[in-house]
Amino acid sequence: MTKFTPRVFSGVQPTGNLHLGNYLGAIKKFVPLQENYECLYCVVDLHAITANPNPEILGQNTREVAAAYLAAGIDPKNHIIFNQSSVPQHAELAWFFNCVARMGWLNRMTQFKEKAGKNKENASVGLYSYPNLMAADILLYKATHVPVGDDQKQHLELTRDIAQKFNIDFIKTIEENGFGDQYFPLPEPIIAGTATRVMSLRDGSKKMSKSDPSDYSRITMTDDADAIALKIRKAKTDPEPLPETIEGFEGRPEAKNLVGIYSALSGKSDAEVLGEFGGETFATFKKALTDLAVPTLEPITKKMQGFMDDQAQIDQILKEGGEKARAIAEETMKEVKTIFGMLHP
Ligand code: AMP
Ligand code: TRP
Repeated sequence: MTKFTPRVFSGVQPTGNLHLGNYLGAIKKFVPLQENYECLYCVVDLHAITANPNPEILGQNTREVAAAYLAAGIDPKNHIIFNQSSVPQHAELAWFFNCVARMGWLNRMTQFKEKAGKNKENASVGLYSYPNLMAADILLYKATHVPVGDDQKQHLELTRDIAQKFNIDFIKTIEENGFGDQYFPLPEPIIAGTATRVMSLRDGSKKMSKSDPSDYSRITMTDDADAIALKIRKAKTDPEPLPETIEGFEGRPEAKNLVGIYSALSGKSDAEVLGEFGGETFATFKKALTDLAVPTLEPITKKMQGFMDDQAQIDQILKEGGEKARAIAEETMKEVKTIFGMLHP
């Protein structure tokens, strides 16, 4: 069996409105992985142009995601922070995967169906083939582990299908060229713990998202204490007091979501939080949630602002990260071309 160096890859799109779901479901979980893995954290700007590209703000949004990585505690000296378009091999490998992945596989992707909505004929081809680019992001670095929120599970399964089909279809040239019995690893998703799916504050059945037209649906990573307090106060609830047990969340998505956010911020389990607040009114609980959320998020938003104020520093970090990533990516692309039988004189 081919042995792969344990390596982590993940990405966040620079599409603005970075929110609590992005932080608790993804970015916060990137941090501890630095201890045991070599990590690459990417600002996926090529993904961000698949729908409604906006050249006026893409650069600033890219810096904002990089600033969030840095503020959360990603160390750019020992790990890699970079933006996707600075490594051309992402788009290049995505082409090869366009030729590996099957139409039938992509037709099953629920995120495309949600994002394209009723107007499928008018969606960009890029939005459709987006999961192939995501597979390329991960496999370009032969990443073995990918921390993401629950909504990316299907894309990770597709990535594994692509890796496996490639490994099987090209086994002859993989072996002949000395790459062992498997060229790509089958990357493992890391979707664990609390807040894998943070829901909208206005509707507990909808995911908290960057594109929700209502700003009250999400707490963003640039909200100040007043904005956080106001959004929690206005968050949708139901008339009952908080349940005493987890089973009591049945049919009460808003209660489940607010308790889930409290758990993720405090590091406690939902059961522990209900032990403390079960039977209390939402008014009491919302006050406690605000008192927890504000001081927990404030240091991160402050640090993020600090990085945003020093544009030159962020740009330098992205540049250096891009160089380090490119060195790995160039190697993989050469090997992939060899496996496909291409000449690269
Ligand atoms: P995106 O904003 O789509 O680029 O997502 C960046 C990361 O945040 C991915 O790992 C997503 O799975 C994660 N994420 C996005 N929205 C949520 C949410 N509402 N709850 C938990 N994780 C989320
Ligand atoms: N598709 C992911 C999202 O919308 C972002 C992403 C792109 C990603 N490439 C990735 C996540 C590679 C993990 C690994 O959230």
